[in-house]
Amino acid sequence: MPPRAQITGWGKYLPSRTVTNDELAQALDTSDEWIRQRTGIRERRLARPAEGAAEMAVHAAREALRKAMIDPGEIGLVIVATSTADQVFPSVASIVQYAIGANRAGAFDLSAACSGFVYALSLASDAISAGSIRAALVIGAEKMSGVVDWGDRNTCVLFGDGAGAIILQAGDPKAGLLASVLGSDGSDGEALVLRSRPGEGAAGQGPVIAMDGRRVFRFASRIMASSLREVTSKLGLAVSDLSLVIPHQANQRIMDAACEELGYPPDRVYSNLERYGNTSAASVPIALCEAADEGRLRDGELVALVAFGGGLSWGAAIVRWGRTIRPPWHVAVRGRGRQLWAAILWQWRRLLRLASSRRRRPS
Ligand code: ACO
Repeated sequence: MPPRAQITGWGKYLPSRTVTNDELAQALDTSDEWIRQRTGIRERRLARPAEGAAEMAVHAAREALRKAMIDPGEIGLVIVATSTADQVFPSVASIVQYAIGANRAGAFDLSAACSGFVYALSLASDAISAGSIRAALVIGAEKMSGVVDWGDRNTCVLFGDGAGAIILQAGDPKAGLLASVLGSDGSDGEALVLRSRPGEGAAGQGPVIAMDGRRVFRFASRIMASSLREVTSKLGLAVSDLSLVIPHQANQRIMDAACEELGYPPDRVYSNLERYGNTSAASVPIALCEAADEGRLRDGELVALVAFGGGLSWGAAIVRWGRTIRPPWHVAVRGRGRQLWAAILWQWRRLLRLASSRRRRPS
């Protein structure tokens, strides 16, 4: 049996600056009510001017490494899904590779818009199953605030910044990524465009997103449902067998429309869109991190990740949650090092206090 890629660590990074709908409404002809009703978004996080996709990716990667308790030297591949890299090269992935000390890893960025993380997950998982690598770091990182036209109410209210990362490791087939589907329909690509060369955006200010919202909405609702059907049928399962669906966070109405078409309970669809808006390729891994940290992913359960975006592109993957890989003892000890040292120091100080109070006690 070939090894299976298991998710052994996850991490996220959201910039500290929160911008509410009301704040946007001070500068634009929009309102909190319109944005909430039409999208489900209440607020989003925006990066500092100097904070780029790479910096956010490094933060998320470090947290994922800590959770996985893996030595960065074991990582064979770093893939960063992004449409908002600080520059074309060096890639965000190469910057992350160096920053975390993954000195035996190949590294590249992947461009598939909001579907990018699911694409990267699928490719990294295939590399693990083929035996080419034993571990991969897969990241979605975006600074969308740098590519929206802040004067266009049709688009700027939708997006936010952030990064999410996972560690994949070769494990036995009991858990991990079971199946994936990837797709693209370039014939409708003009519905959602981010030109890459500076000067091509609005008012020659650099790249900006242009979108036919209604066209993208129709595509997204249809493809979210059909790709979930396709990926579950690959395993001989039904969508109802999924314990949780973690979709790309674009619009609450897209998630609700897909649920209605599938007859799937909306309370089993993870949503944090309200707090972060659409963070493009980062949205699925950020949501995955939060679902895991909130205890919504239980060992043995089936979880689907599904995304859609520019291209037009889409991807869906099914993971059996859980890890059978245990970190080697020295890595586990190092990973728990701080806690261990803190406990030893605490005990040592307690003994010292006890001894000195005995010495001071009058006989
Ligand atoms: N505030 C107030 N009014 C607005 C705003 C706003 N922020 N934005 C648009 N409107 C107005 C429009 O001008 C229009 O006015 P009109 O009727 O006078 O022309 C009216 O609201 C209705 O506009 P619609 O576009 O029909 O609104 P809709 O209900 O379709 O919602 C939205 C628009 C939210 C953009 C929706 O179409 C959508 O979410 N589409 C999908 C977008 C998406 O997911 N994109 C990301 C894909 S992922 C990636 O790869 C980047």
